[in-house]
Amino acid sequence: MSLGKATAIACSNIAFIKYWGNRDAALRLPLNNSISMNLDHATTRTTVAFDAMLNDDEIVIGDRAANAAQRVRVVAHLERVRALAHIETRARVHSRNNFPMGAGIASSASAFAALSLAATRAAGLALSERELSILARQGSGSACRSIPAGFVEWLAGTSSADSYAVQIAPPSFWDLRDVIAVVSTTEKHVGSTEGHAAASSSHFLAARLQALPERLARVRHALATRDLEMLGNAIEQDAIELHLIAMTSRPPIFYWSPGMVRVIQAVHAWRGEGLAVYFTLDAGPNVHLICEARDADSVAMRVREIPEVVQVIVNAPGDAAYLTDQHLF
Ligand code: DP6
Repeated sequence: MSLGKATAIACSNIAFIKYWGNRDAALRLPLNNSISMNLDHATTRTTVAFDAMLNDDEIVIGDRAANAAQRVRVVAHLERVRALAHIETRARVHSRNNFPMGAGIASSASAFAALSLAATRAAGLALSERELSILARQGSGSACRSIPAGFVEWLAGTSSADSYAVQIAPPSFWDLRDVIAVVSTTEKHVGSTEGHAAASSSHFLAARLQALPERLARVRHALATRDLEMLGNAIEQDAIELHLIAMTSRPPIFYWSPGMVRVIQAVHAWRGEGLAVYFTLDAGPNVHLICEARDADSVAMRVREIPEVVQVIVNAPGDAAYLTDQHLF
């Protein structure tokens, strides 16, 4: 077995139908299927080298050593890879996002997808797309959707072996854009892991789960037929329900901020004027505006005029996670 160095790049993704709540929190087996689009301008590059000289894993995120919470999660993931490769060697891991950290853009999806690919390769393993997606899922649920390219569905499955993501359509299938409105906020962000754990305390979770099979079918159909109005209505409904469940969990979790509400109201006003744009939300203050490529400039220009919006990042459908020899060290 050759232990070496490998570097991978993975996109973050935006969920059209959200993953919210687990059947098995340790294995990250979700309550429901979810559907997403990879984001080509929100990527993580990660280099991993297993090194017999190391006494402990060395983890650098951005320019600094990982904090305690990040370290626990990354080391647990390296343990999964060491178990697969039957090795005990410690690793050096450097990871860098191409989007600003702390902007509230989900980074665990791209981070654990890139880490899964780089670490398995560095350990001398060549996993299939399905095996990589299963591995990435255990690091962060949404990361399993950043392994395949383009438009992706995470099949909830019944056990770890059948809970993974598959491509619904390649990136070139539909020239959609996700215009991310990064909204300034002073609120402390509650992590999604906590949100998943709290979801079952909301009375509304059962109603959402009941509505989902029909909504998933609608989103699949909207993607297959490139029907933005059908897609947009379904994703707005699902984003609102995610936040409804968060706010009615015990204790309640508020991701809302005045800037977020301002952008949502603007989206509805622009639609009234004939601009085809729809919003979705993550477990944070930013608003993701979904539109066709031809309307992206107009959407980005308008959203920049909203005072609470501090940055705008325009994303096309992104690629699968891939290996590169442009190492970080
Ligand atoms: C609201 O994948 O970040 O973005 O598995 O605990 O890391 P962990 O959670 P995570 O949850 C994502 C929640 C979401 C919706 C989604 O991306 O589907």
